[in-house]
Amino acid sequence: MLRLLPALIAVVAVASPARGGEVGRAARGETLFHIGGCTNCHTAEGGPALAGGDPIRTPFGVFHPPNITPDAETGIGGWDAQDFIRAMRDGRSPDGAPYYPAFPYTSYHRMSDADLRALWAHLRTFPPVRRATPPHELRFPWNIRSGLLLWQWLFHAPRPFVPDPSRDPLWNRGAYLVLGPGHCAECHTPRNWFGVPDRDRAFAGNPDGPGGEEVPNITSDRERGIGAWSLEQLVFYLRIGMRPDGDFAGGEMAEVIENGTSRISEEDRRAIATYLLSLPPRR
Ligand code: HEC
Ligand code: HEC
Repeated sequence: MLRLLPALIAVVAVASPARGGEVGRAARGETLFHIGGCTNCHTAEGGPALAGGDPIRTPFGVFHPPNITPDAETGIGGWDAQDFIRAMRDGRSPDGAPYYPAFPYTSYHRMSDADLRALWAHLRTFPPVRRATPPHELRFPWNIRSGLLLWQWLFHAPRPFVPDPSRDPLWNRGAYLVLGPGHCAECHTPRNWFGVPDRDRAFAGNPDGPGGEEVPNITSDRERGIGAWSLEQLVFYLRIGMRPDGDFAGGEMAEVIENGTSRISEEDRRAIATYLLSLPPRR
């Protein structure tokens, strides 16, 4: 039944053009929410949805992902769409304070205005939960938030995704999902000393991923990457989590699949796979 839902929504959207835009937007916001992995960080294990996540341990200290439910006092109930777009794109709070890149606005900034608005509308459908977020526990000098102003000035140039006209729409959709909401590079690309992903080695794997976990190479390199996988095998992995050799995805990727790529449309999985397999082999 659940699998039929997107089809039903599509039928409703076609049958009633007047409401079609609204239904389409709700479905789009939900897809972006899933592929964006918001739950993975902002919902604690066994806790209420989006009311604050489990601590993220990093070499800089511990981050506590905040409550992003519509609660006015402890969540973001007092925000409007413009505040949300600014947070996701500029990495700035409504009062202008810079966010730590542990919040992957470093990828989300590529999302379009229309998509950010659809995602915002979806977030507003969650029940408000009153639950205060503890402050981060970061070591000096990382605990000085204003230091991020320099970091952002040097390394963060927000810019919505621009499609490549020489590629077809499926490839461009895949590039958008991977580089923007999917934030796949945040884990799969190694970082330099400033914590900035090394573009020359995009998707070449990260020996020191989140939680110290090793993240594999997903370029088309045939030995170290996934160049030997067929498009169908990759689509299947993103849907079910099973690799061509029969192993199941573990670690952080299990969550990315369970809460993310398994919940989007087959067409979107195909788009992601098409883009990934087009990446040049890198090591
Ligand atoms: C990898 C973990 C991670 C993911 C995934 C993530 N966030 Fe966050 N988010 C954080 C952290 C950590 C902060 C706190 C940043 C800070 O304090 O500077 C944050 C902060 C925020 C804030 C600012 C809240 C406030 O009170 O100022 C918003 C809004 C937000 N995230 C929305 C989202 C949405 C929407 C998604 C999914 C598209 C998402 N986040 C996915 C980790 C994450
Ligand atoms: C939070 C970190 C994280 C994010 C975000 C992430 N991945 Fe992964 N990914 C991993 C880890 C860790 C593994 C290894 C899983 C395992 O050990 O089974 C992995 C494995 C994979 C593999 C299988 C590679 C292999 O050789 O087995 C593919 C394909 C993949 N990821 C694609 C993606 C795509 C596409 C996205 C974005 C939609 C993404 N990943 C986002 C951490 C991440």
